[in-house]
Amino acid sequence: MATAIGNPYLEGNFAPIPDELSVDDLPVTGALPRELNGRYLRIGPNPQGSVETGAGHHWFIGQGMVHGVRLRDGRAEWYRNRFVRSDVPENSPNTNVLAQGGRLLALVEGGGAPVSISPDLNRMATWDADGALRAGFTAHPKIDPVTGEMHSISYLLRPGAEHLRYDVLDATGKATHTAELPVSGVPMVHDMAMTATRVVVLDLPVTLSTEAVGRLMAGTPQSGDALSMRWNEEHPSRVGVLPRGGTADQLRWFDAPRAYVFHVLNAYDAPDGSIVMDVVRYDTVFRNAFNGPTDCPPTLARWTVAPGRGTVSEQIMSDYGMEWPRINRDRVGHAHRYGWFGGVGPEGLRLSDDVNRDRGGSFEPGPLVKFDTTTGETTVHHFGAGRVTQEPAFVARPGAEAEEDGWILSVVYDGATDRSELVVLDAADVEAAPLARVHLPRRVPFGFHGNWVSDDEVGA
Ligand SMILES: [Fe+2]
Repeated sequence: MATAIGNPYLEGNFAPIPDELSVDDLPVTGALPRELNGRYLRIGPNPQGSVETGAGHHWFIGQGMVHGVRLRDGRAEWYRNRFVRSDVPENSPNTNVLAQGGRLLALVEGGGAPVSISPDLNRMATWDADGALRAGFTAHPKIDPVTGEMHSISYLLRPGAEHLRYDVLDATGKATHTAELPVSGVPMVHDMAMTATRVVVLDLPVTLSTEAVGRLMAGTPQSGDALSMRWNEEHPSRVGVLPRGGTADQLRWFDAPRAYVFHVLNAYDAPDGSIVMDVVRYDTVFRNAFNGPTDCPPTLARWTVAPGRGTVSEQIMSDYGMEWPRINRDRVGHAHRYGWFGGVGPEGLRLSDDVNRDRGGSFEPGPLVKFDTTTGETTVHHFGAGRVTQEPAFVARPGAEAEEDGWILSVVYDGATDRSELVVLDAADVEAAPLARVHLPRRVPFGFHGNWVSDDEVGA
């Protein structure tokens, strides 16, 4: 990937695109499952202007752009991409897009309220749950598959905040609980975990400079302020456990491995009272490389939190470089067997290969990876030369009972054509040829997260 201006996150398919497009009746190779009625959505930063695209540009910064592919009755009805616009000009969520309480929401951590997007992507407005989320939210809430409740741990991008906020919204999007959880400084808390009975807080050694944060919030950034998230040897590495709906006095902290975790695959209560939590972990981030998380490749680990013993143990699960962990969302908080991931590196990386441990420069997408936590087996779908993906989404087949009975939807970038496709795989047999490929009218820049949002969730 060319790095003519020295920042890989502004080059190649990381580069932003300038405009919005609406194209109907997309060509499809293969046969789209007729049960897929809804839209697949992806979001990422699409930085605009000199402040967002200067030499110090950080991958995580920039106005959000959402890309959508509308499927109905075996046809691909449209592709649309839209800048994310809120009622507040400086707030443009760029990190996740999902449905909760009948709303389609674009999310970002650390300071901006969610933006509600109409199912056709054409209307947007700030949505803060009647003020409950006005001060900020997270990009990775956890939604209970049975109750529809949404649990979230948010950090606040302001000097002196010194606490996280735990919120619960009911299945209609109404705030029902909030609690402040004291922490030291401003740790970057990107994700959390939830079991059937408890939530887990990740307080790991990456923190944000409060001075830089203050300037960013005031709209007076200095050069490099966007790079103010740093590995912090002074900060603890710990996980906090509290009952669902609990408060700070019920929070118990446990020393954790000195590592960073952006994303949790899932967590659940084990019969012995411990919490089994599968995470994608990095030895460090933002210690050697500052524009993105490229100190080392990430991989899957199992952290077992044993409150009775007061310990967190770590077991590395896979030798494969992988990120963007996804499960069957009906299993959130309950025991899971399978995870689907975006592999790291165009051909996939084995961490046992020393050459791969110090790869840096950009966060390279790769093949689709499926991991079986029961057998330890890794299976991979390679999309072909120069064709790579990031985060997949698992969509359960209607009426399915088996955990892996459904489809994997993933946007694949083809470097030869400079275009992207929405590829549908059989989730139970990811090595098989794709069931369908929807040919999109342009490239979808490498971004962060995406979800399938059915018509049942937000309307047609
Ligand atoms: Fe994320």
